[in-house]
Amino acid sequence: MINSEKLSKTNFNVDAIRADFPILHQQMNGHDLVFLDTGASAQKPKQVIEAMVSVMQSDYANVHRGVYSLSQRSTDLFEASREKVARFINAPDEDSVVFTRGATEAINLVAFSYGQRLVPGDEILTTEIEHHSNIVPWQMIAERQGAKVVFAPITDDGELDMEAVRALITNRTKIVAAAHVSNTMGTVLPIKELARLAHRVGAVMIADGCQAAPHLPVDVQDLNVDFYAFSSHKVYGPTGIGVLYGRPDILIDMPPYQGGGEMIETVEKTGSTFKLPPHRFEAGTPAIIEAVGLGAAIDYITSVGIEAAGAHETEVCAHAETLLRSMPEVEILGRPNSKTSVLSFNVKGAHAHDVGTILDQQGVAIRAGQHCAQTVMDRFGLHATARASFGMYNTLAEAEALARAVSKTIEIFG
Ligand code: ALA
Repeated sequence: MINSEKLSKTNFNVDAIRADFPILHQQMNGHDLVFLDTGASAQKPKQVIEAMVSVMQSDYANVHRGVYSLSQRSTDLFEASREKVARFINAPDEDSVVFTRGATEAINLVAFSYGQRLVPGDEILTTEIEHHSNIVPWQMIAERQGAKVVFAPITDDGELDMEAVRALITNRTKIVAAAHVSNTMGTVLPIKELARLAHRVGAVMIADGCQAAPHLPVDVQDLNVDFYAFSSHKVYGPTGIGVLYGRPDILIDMPPYQGGGEMIETVEKTGSTFKLPPHRFEAGTPAIIEAVGLGAAIDYITSVGIEAAGAHETEVCAHAETLLRSMPEVEILGRPNSKTSVLSFNVKGAHAHDVGTILDQQGVAIRAGQHCAQTVMDRFGLHATARASFGMYNTLAEAEALARAVSKTIEIFG
């Protein structure tokens, strides 16, 4: 491990980071755990765990409703997290940050609220590279409104085909929806350019930032997106909470997504009126403890430095990729120019699930399957891949452990 880390060019203090993640220090099937499934969900630093325990032990009550001090304290912590999120993505103000159950709910919110304005003949442009959460909500609202979902193709290298995109964005396009980073290949998509093309025809741009927010600095104003979604659990925070950023002048005109307490101004038998954003979109008791945990996760990433963490993860992933590419029995999905720390591969003659199982026996945890990205699998004529995805706590030595485990898989499959 020490030798490998000496190879590092980033001078990232990964040992100090690892000390903050209690779960990583365990054996799995007789080996040191090598956790390479951060793309599915990141592990949590003790700072997040402690912040959540602390709010439950000392500061917890329902928010926005109580006249008593404890509720005020809880509300202050909850709203402080919203401010942290706003700073994290450089949102113009905290009212443009809506807390949702996750990124999936954030995209559904846009689809079923903003999407109500679609009329027959309108088009939603998405891409072949998407996670299902950035396809299925669009298909559902398109069917309801008589609109159409159009897919922009990806190239053999796993890049978005921008020539095709330019031809597909027309006056019929009303929404452009794309991942900021692919969850299968790590491709970084040109969101700023997509937003420019969308705006040229009067469409709105929504980016799914699930795989980007943990690895890249996100500036929603610089990207000039209208909506940006990401999940807490992928940025080292808890599950059960996510974020929708919406441009304030667009959110203000959007109808509620769900009805209930908290989001109303008045309720009468004849009808109800609704609060301003973001509360209009937050019906019911929110995920209070989880919001505090998300705030702590953002503090943690900020203290580490997202650029430093991202550079380290890219270096570890590139090391793994170099090692795997040197094995003739391994096929790697895509070769994008600009990518983060996700690596999908197959071992010739072995099913991805079997690869995952054999790796697990050697303590290496990866994801195997379609990765909720069936259009990517179809594009490359695959049923499944094995996928290693890296977080700030992974080491060059772990990239080597992955390569050794893959070699062993190749031996087993002859
Ligand atoms: N969206 C998560 C992944 O890509 C679950 O693994």
